[in-house]
Amino acid sequence: MNLFTDLEEIVKHNEPMAKHTWFRLGGPARYFFEPRSEEELLKIVRRCHENEVEMYVLGRGSNLLVADEGIDGAVIRLHMPAFSRITIENDVVRAGAGVELSELVRRCAREGLSGFECMAGIPGSVGGAVMINAGGRFGDIGNVANSIRLMDSSGFCFERDRNDIYFGYRMTNIMAKFILEAEFGLVPENPERIAKMLKEISMLKKNSQPLSSRNAGCIFKNPRALSAGALIDKAGLKGTSVRAARISETHANFIVAEEHATTKDVLELIELVQSRVYERFDVNLELEVVVWK
Ligand code: EPU
Repeated sequence: MNLFTDLEEIVKHNEPMAKHTWFRLGGPARYFFEPRSEEELLKIVRRCHENEVEMYVLGRGSNLLVADEGIDGAVIRLHMPAFSRITIENDVVRAGAGVELSELVRRCAREGLSGFECMAGIPGSVGGAVMINAGGRFGDIGNVANSIRLMDSSGFCFERDRNDIYFGYRMTNIMAKFILEAEFGLVPENPERIAKMLKEISMLKKNSQPLSSRNAGCIFKNPRALSAGALIDKAGLKGTSVRAARISETHANFIVAEEHATTKDVLELIELVQSRVYERFDVNLELEVVVWK
């Protein structure tokens, strides 16, 4: 039986997830949707909920590792224009979950609005970035979030004020399945100063991260007051491979997927790193990358 007969126009079957992740890894999703409106999303969500189909929300796939066996559920990608709008009123910016971060950063810089500089060079969607409070050494997206509009897995929509949300280090307490939109409060600033800052941060990353390879950003969170990259490096693991997955020589917290790599290769390499770092430094490295398996 096909659960989504009346949504045939927008459902894809057995969509390869490798097409949608920066790692270019991952088997097929049983169902794959790119809803064109909130009404359509609601229909999909209700149908999945009623039929106990597990839902997986996909952003830009830049911090994601998907099992080679694929996903026995519905992957939902909010990326169509209805979810990708940016509106600016004075220093308040609203962005849909599907907006690409780099576009938001550029747009705000052009408008002379400061606050997103810390997001320079971070790939991903606004929804994904808010969900894990993406950021870096210079700050994170939670610093400028005013409120978030959400939908839970039964299709109920609601809004949360920044005081209701805990933005921790690469985590939030958001339990709802979908982030629909976020509102940010920025500060007026000279566009040239913002552009200069963006350039500096981007250059820093370009020089210290393997940005042109197939990777998913940092694999592990930094343990409190330590750097995961420095620990992996000190453990002598740069360049270590499991088949076609390799620890980057440029930054040890990045895993590079070479030709013919599989998710299994990456997962085995992750385990190897975790056990070596634990043996050597008595530190448990926690994953930053999101794994669907
Ligand atoms: N280091 C090494 N060897 C390495 C890598 C780093 O010795 O192979 C040392 C560096 O020399 C430095 C320290 O470790 O003294 C910290 O390294 P870095 O400045 O590169 O920062 P990071 O803590 O490794 C964090 C974020 C990055 C973000 C950068 C810059 C985490 C896990 N990582 O990296 O975020 O781009 O700051 O803002 O929080 C990501 O989240 O995917 C990511 C790449």
